[in-house]
Amino acid sequence: MNPGQALSLKTTESNNKDMGTIPYGHQWIDEEDIQAVVDVLRSNWLTTGPKVKEVEQDFADYVGTKYAVAVSSGTAALHTAMFALGIGSGDEVIVPPITFVATANAVVFQGGTPVFADVDAETLLIDPRQVEERITPRTKAIITVDFAGQPCAYDELRSIARRHGLALVADACHSLGGLYKGRKVGTLADLTVFSFHPVKHITTGEGGMITTDDPEMAERMRRFRNHGINADHASRAEQGTWYYEMKDLGYNYRITDFQCALGLSQLKKLPVFLERRREIAKMYDREVASLKGVTPLYISSDVVHSYHLYVICVKERARMFVQLREKGIGVNVHYFPVHLQPYYQKNFGTSEGLCPVAEKAYNHILSLPLFPQMEDNDVERVVTAIEEVSD
Ligand SMILES: Cc1ncc(COP(=O)(O)O)c(C=O)c1O
Repeated sequence: MNPGQALSLKTTESNNKDMGTIPYGHQWIDEEDIQAVVDVLRSNWLTTGPKVKEVEQDFADYVGTKYAVAVSSGTAALHTAMFALGIGSGDEVIVPPITFVATANAVVFQGGTPVFADVDAETLLIDPRQVEERITPRTKAIITVDFAGQPCAYDELRSIARRHGLALVADACHSLGGLYKGRKVGTLADLTVFSFHPVKHITTGEGGMITTDDPEMAERMRRFRNHGINADHASRAEQGTWYYEMKDLGYNYRITDFQCALGLSQLKKLPVFLERRREIAKMYDREVASLKGVTPLYISSDVVHSYHLYVICVKERARMFVQLREKGIGVNVHYFPVHLQPYYQKNFGTSEGLCPVAEKAYNHILSLPLFPQMEDNDVERVVTAIEEVSD
């Protein structure tokens, strides 16, 4: 299938990927997206205007939550979530080690301590038993990470959170469009965080969102993205007043209207993007998973995966990484375990042996190229290259 034809999207020249190397991820921007951005650039509102509210409403409707709060990145979204929960000095938040550093960093931004709970060996998702073992009287929250696009074991995790009186935050930067037992990602935790970086399911260049059903949390998060101020520029203009109050210490985590216009346009295409991601994953399942020495991550029958990444485990990852890159296959490694990052070793005393499952997995994992604009022959090229270099 030619996805361009199937989706009847017009690709712009500037956006055609250079097929010398197949990247591991890539945005898909069409003329409609560009027009949406241009329209905003010609309007009166470049930021804090109507497109922000519109994208929040459409996103909340898509996910099925009462509120969605748009911010300037996934990292800002995580920080905002930590603030909304009141995480502060002395508080512990349980996080997995197989994630992007931002998940743990958001806890540190608020003065809290990330406590690393190991992952399950087959899925690389946070292991609920390990979570329970790491709970102390100081624990305030758990951040789950739907690694690669597979939702975590939310029934178990919610029950642990409830029993211990903890908040549950889902880092769903990989799993927009995923389902757990028929329920949509975005509705499975108290707060759910998304990223709109170009390699993600939809993009705003940089951008993020937090979904929740809690009106007070939504309000706190809206203030936090705007310096902790109780009224934004638009609402002050509406009410004809200059007066505002700063209730909390917040940041400038606002997102612009032209970014939100891009987000609205991309959101319309999300079902098609997801369908193509799943189709490519199926091709990999058929052709790569059968190769000797190649094991894809296990997918639970409880989930519908949204395939931000397609991760395989191989024996000689370091060698295969180099050889595949030489062949123009933009493989990547997600992730070097966060607790082994020099910053965490130095400041939080974490070290090897803390999360042995993650540490062992790290030596074997490889992310294959996966993005909706990949064509079947790109996938074939990846498969053939893996065949050539696998032992
Ligand atoms: C799991 C995870 N959490 C958080 C982030 C941070 O998102 P952003 O890059 O939009 O700040 C990312 C992005 O790479 C991510 O993959």
